[in-house]
Amino acid sequence: MLRHLKVPKFKAQEAKKYLETKGALHEDFLPIKEDDFVFWPVKFEIDGEIVERKGNPVVKKSRDYRSHLSSEIKELAPKSFDIFGDIAIVKMPEVLMKHSGMIADALLISNSNINKVALDSGVTGKYRIRELKLLKGPSGFISTHKENGLLFTIDISKVYFSPRLATERQRIANKVTGVEHVLDAFAGAAPFSVILAKKGCYVTSIDANPESEKWARINFKQNHVPQSNYNFICSRVEDMIESLSPFDRVIMNNPMNSFAYIESLRDMVKLGGIVHFYYIGSMEDQLTVVNTFGADFRCLLTREVHPYSPSSSVMVSDLERVNSTVQIINQ
Ligand SMILES: C[S@@+](CC[C@H](N)C(=O)[O-])C[C@H]1O[C@@H](n2cnc3c(N)ncnc32)[C@H](O)[C@@H]1O
Repeated sequence: MLRHLKVPKFKAQEAKKYLETKGALHEDFLPIKEDDFVFWPVKFEIDGEIVERKGNPVVKKSRDYRSHLSSEIKELAPKSFDIFGDIAIVKMPEVLMKHSGMIADALLISNSNINKVALDSGVTGKYRIRELKLLKGPSGFISTHKENGLLFTIDISKVYFSPRLATERQRIANKVTGVEHVLDAFAGAAPFSVILAKKGCYVTSIDANPESEKWARINFKQNHVPQSNYNFICSRVEDMIESLSPFDRVIMNNPMNSFAYIESLRDMVKLGGIVHFYYIGSMEDQLTVVNTFGADFRCLLTREVHPYSPSSSVMVSDLERVNSTVQIINQ
């Protein structure tokens, strides 16, 4: 039995505040509601009507899903996983596959916001699509994910998306202070494009995957981006880049194959404009980035976006165009 302070319902919040100020509220237990009264659990005797009641403990869900696994599996189970909408995406070594059902159950029990678990076998092919296998939950990989207050509906088995880029997308959006013309050269389902277009930029998004275009258009629409602020072109960058004029900001988010596009895309950056260049590597590779962009560019920053493998990371370098020695025909 536990001591509770009995108060009329209409005085419940006032009493709670009083107990909090006195340090008397027992936060490991929930208040009990009975008829027109609320019973606040207290740690020690305090002025007012104190009654004994069976305490109603707060059930704290463990944040680590592995606490629902046997110690043998727990040791091997992955510590981290991604969440896209209501889908948990988890990578697993082959030796764990026989326990994958139990791991999926543990993830579902400990995360009330997910309702399916998918095994991630990596991102492959020119469209950088994730190979997914459903472990638990209803079929299909379409979900709606909230990121930086925006909604993204995507079939993640058909289009690339990484929730790990949320902070990076917000960082780029924070850089924009006025109306800019932006090129999102490898746009996917348009997460960079949408956040920038919402800030009033005019965004040209390019992606070669027709599924990217389908989901990008849905995402522009559901986030109420005016049609005049975006233009999605479904094409390979190299097949159409010459028809475009230079931009204030260029996003080159195709880290696995980014160096191959520097030559054609650096001339898409206006004098004074910025390019955000993503690549797989480390801080040491900054020099190669700077040398490849050449003397017309000055590196403003290089940072790790997130780890990629034990020895490499997804990196970003922000470079400003400070010179225009190359003649820009379309400007
Ligand atoms: C790593 S994903 C980035 C997607 C997006 N920027 C994001 O943050 O979710 C790279 C994208 O580039 C697209 N892509 C690959 N090669 C391309 C090319 N040559 N031209 C245009 N898009 C290409 C893929 O379809 C894929 O959607």
